Order: sequence, then C-alpha cells, then structure tokens
Amino acid sequence: MKIIYEPLELQTYLKEQNKTIGYVPTMGALHEGHIELIKNARKANELVVVSIFVNPTQFLKGEDLDKYPRRDEADKKICELAGVDVVFFPSKENIYFEDEVKIEAPEVRGYVLEGATRPGHFSGVLRIVMKLLNIVNPTRAYFGKKDAQQLNLIQLMVKHYYMDVEIVPVDTVREADGLARSSRNIYLSTDERKEALKISASLYAASKMISKNILDVEEIKGEMLTILSPLEIGYVEIVNREFEPIKKAEIGNTVILVEVVVGKTRLLDNIWL
Ligand code: PAJ
Repeated sequence: MKIIYEPLELQTYLKEQNKTIGYVPTMGALHEGHIELIKNARKANELVVVSIFVNPTQFLKGEDLDKYPRRDEADKKICELAGVDVVFFPSKENIYFEDEVKIEAPEVRGYVLEGATRPGHFSGVLRIVMKLLNIVNPTRAYFGKKDAQQLNLIQLMVKHYYMDVEIVPVDTVREADGLARSSRNIYLSTDERKEALKISASLYAASKMISKNILDVEEIKGEMLTILSPLEIGYVEIVNREFEPIKKAEIGNTVILVEVVVGKTRLLDNIWL
C-alpha cells in the first residue's frame, strides 16, 4: 500500500497507472461505515484510493476541529487490511491556498437542516471534495447515505460543474443495537450511548408508521419528538429527495432526518424511504 502526502504527486502517480479508480474521501478515525465504502470501491474498481484529512474549512468556530479523533497509524492498518492501494494524507498547507477561488454551497439546499445549524459547513465540504475529486480524478467516488445532505450536495456539485465522476451512495452501517456508526460515537459516555439509541428508535418508529399508511408528516414528527425526548433536538425533518419540505410522506421519495445533541456530541441519522 502506497502512502502519498503531496496532491500533485498523487495526481501524477494515478494518471500513470491508467486504471479505473474507486475513491473514498474520509476524515479518518475509520470505522465499519468507512470500511463498507472501501469494500464497495474494491469490488468495482482496479485501484482503490482513500484520503484522510480533517478538513478545517468545514468546521465552524467553536466546533470540535481540535479534538476530532486522529488515528493515522490505526487508519493505515485498517486501509491495508481492507485492500486499499493508496492512502492520501494531504495537509492544510499543501491543499489550501491563501487567495482561494471558492465554491459555495447553494443558498437553499446548503443552508437548511444541517446547513442551518452549521451555516457555511457545506461550503467547506464542497470546497474540499471538489479539490479531492480533481486530484484523484476517480472513476467512482463513494459517499455514505448517513450524511444524506452532504451526499445530495456533492451530487449537485458534480452535476452543476459537469464533473466526470460517478457518485456512488452507500447504505448506513449501524452497530448491532441500531446506532449509526460515526467517528464521533467515541465521545459518548455509557449513559449517553444508551440515550443515543433513541435516534434510531425514532426513525424505525417513523418508518413503521409509514408502512401502516400514516403519511402525515406532522403526525410522524410528533411521534418522533416524543421518542427523542428529552434529548436536545437540532432538527427532525421529513423531506423529499430534493431536500424540500413535504406534507405527506411518499415511499420512494422521502428522507427522514434527525440531528440531536447527546451530552456535547452532535449526532446525525436518517432513513431513506
Ligand atoms: P467522514 O465523516 O469521515 O465520512 C467519510 C464518508 O464515510 C462519508 O461519505 C460518510 O457519509 C461515510 N460514513 C460515515 N459513517 C457512515 C456509516 N455509518 N455508514 C456508511 N457510511 C458512513 O463525511 C466526511 O468525512 C467529510 O465531510 C468528507 C466528505 C471526507 C469531506 O471532508
């Protein structure tokens, strides 16, 4: 497995290989969710590239940038075991410039839900993903449905900028008890971990209601808020695949999203119906 730090070195190396490339961008502290993305990439491409970079521009002031878990050595081992060919470790200094040409998240979709609680976050995500995709120039890039809004915005960017890459969405990987895998789960105490199960419980309850033909969004949200109580709610929203609010859930075109704060940890989850 090759480790590369310099963007232009990676770009040149990959061009020389002249192979199909499956690419998985991450911020490290790799877990089963990331591994699932890597497995998907491994199955469909000749070369698999993973990047590990805790991207400062997607963290707002006061967020957990400094304490975000960093485990480079463990991550390298995980990548090696998962059959990754190249791990890319860019740095802030070699990937960002002083006078940047900046891409912005779109006004509506970029500033609702997660974008409303974290204004500017998605601009930072799109900025780094645009750079990374241009460096790696992959055949396919893999993103988790767990970050549904991020995935949607990346798909939009690829479309609006005519980028020649296939974005492959991957289902959310969960712990046995239903909690969505996240690098931030390690912040949770034992009690908080138990409280966090209310998130997946609220989503399962919502999907059960829908399967019983209870489609009224306010009614579903009401039931979810009862289950989530007394957790601090960021948002509970039911939207269509375009991330527009809807009044009635419709199977095949509905995403239910939850953001809650457990202790000090912000956790996201969603379900696609
Ligand atoms: P990170 O949170 O490390 O996630 C990297 C990728 O793993 C994302 O596509 C995310 O959706 C996916 N992922 C995380 N948890 C998952 C789970 N439980 N099941 C399936 N997939 C999961 O998302 C980012 O990093 C960054 O914003 C990034 C795209 C790398 C840009 O900096």
